[in-house]
Amino acid sequence: MQLDHVTIRTRDIEGTRAFFETVFDLTIGERPAAIRRIPGCWLYCESKPVVHLIGSLGTGFDRAAEAIDHVGFRLEGYAAFRARLDRLAIPYSTMDLADIGERRLFLRAPGGPLLEAVFSEPVAPLRWRMSMTFTDNTVSVVIGGTSGIGAAVASALAERPGRVDVASRSTGLDIADAAAAAAYFQTLGPIDHLIVTAGSSAPGGTVADIDLKGAKAAFDIKFWGSIVLAREAAKTMRPGGTITFTSGFLARRTVPGTVVKTAMNAALEATVKILARELAPLRVNAVSPGLTRTEAYAGMAGDARDAMFERAAATLPAGRFGEPQDIAQGYLFAIDNPFVTGSVIDIEGGALIN
Ligand SMILES: NC(=O)c1ccc[n+]([C@@H]2O[C@H](COP(=O)([O-])OP(=O)(O)OC[C@H]3O[C@@H](n4cnc5c(N)ncnc54)[C@H](OP(=O)(O)O)[C@@H]3O)[C@@H](O)[C@H]2O)c1
Repeated sequence: MQLDHVTIRTRDIEGTRAFFETVFDLTIGERPAAIRRIPGCWLYCESKPVVHLIGSLGTGFDRAAEAIDHVGFRLEGYAAFRARLDRLAIPYSTMDLADIGERRLFLRAPGGPLLEAVFSEPVAPLRWRMSMTFTDNTVSVVIGGTSGIGAAVASALAERPGRVDVASRSTGLDIADAAAAAAYFQTLGPIDHLIVTAGSSAPGGTVADIDLKGAKAAFDIKFWGSIVLAREAAKTMRPGGTITFTSGFLARRTVPGTVVKTAMNAALEATVKILARELAPLRVNAVSPGLTRTEAYAGMAGDARDAMFERAAATLPAGRFGEPQDIAQGYLFAIDNPFVTGSVIDIEGGALIN
């Protein structure tokens, strides 16, 4: 085992880059294709990229700026190490960097610090994941792709030929604004795949105490926002195109106090079926995630959040909570399988049968 690299989150990528160049004589170099969409750079000491910089707005769970994001260790034996994590029931996420022949696993030390295990191993062709229809001209759009599940989908799509455009409020697009959504698609030109993961928050509480204003605002983003995005995308979508929305397991799991999320996700699931008929032969589906560890829970107190995830791992039939990469596979399936339309793909660790 060797130390491989450190990744620093910063608001000032240029300043931090200049600092490492001046003080440590590091030089800027190539980054793998799959992560080039993330603002940042790799700084090399001779042939080794020892310092990685990534941008941060400084808000959200695990997103504080001017901080160490994670430390990378170089190891040997990817399969054996992954099997060990499985055996120890340690959750992890994966990243394959085909162009530099590396496989990576992200896991957390018990107190939370993020670690990355790096292996120099060729990446097997992703035949089952890699639709032959992706070319250098393919344009995929991930609305909500700056965080959580959307970011994992954008990462997976970035490994394929073509271009991935990521948008959210932090890139200047608020999908509650229908005119802004229409203008956004006009700037893009023809597209092939639309994925919508935007809008994770909605007020909780019982029907008797409902926060009507908050509920309507949540619908304006996740429900009406998704509909408007589909309408605008369909205008310029090329043949073979797909639209994949995101609902959530609460659409069909009855949990008192979650009426807004339940109603919003159920409405979206119903609308997927209508749109799949109206927009055919474009295909329209939804992925319905279960509890997944993302920045959506940044607002919770750390202890309560950890307890919630631990409880889920202890009670769900799958014995774990979701990682964004688990859910991302559902979007790839919806995009790649030409016989899937009007479907809701449940990826929820068994929450619906519990
Ligand atoms: N995580 C879970 O446990 C879970 C469970 C069931 C369902 N889901 C669903 O999965 C989807 C993704 O959730 P997540 O956990 O990945 O959430 P997340 O990490 O909070 O990401 C949400 C994304 O949506 C964007 N967004 C929010 N409001 C927006 C708006 N008005 N216009 C444009 N973009 C907006 C955010 O970026 P900006 O802040 O920059 O706008 C962010 O990129 C959501 O629909 C959520 O309901 C999640």
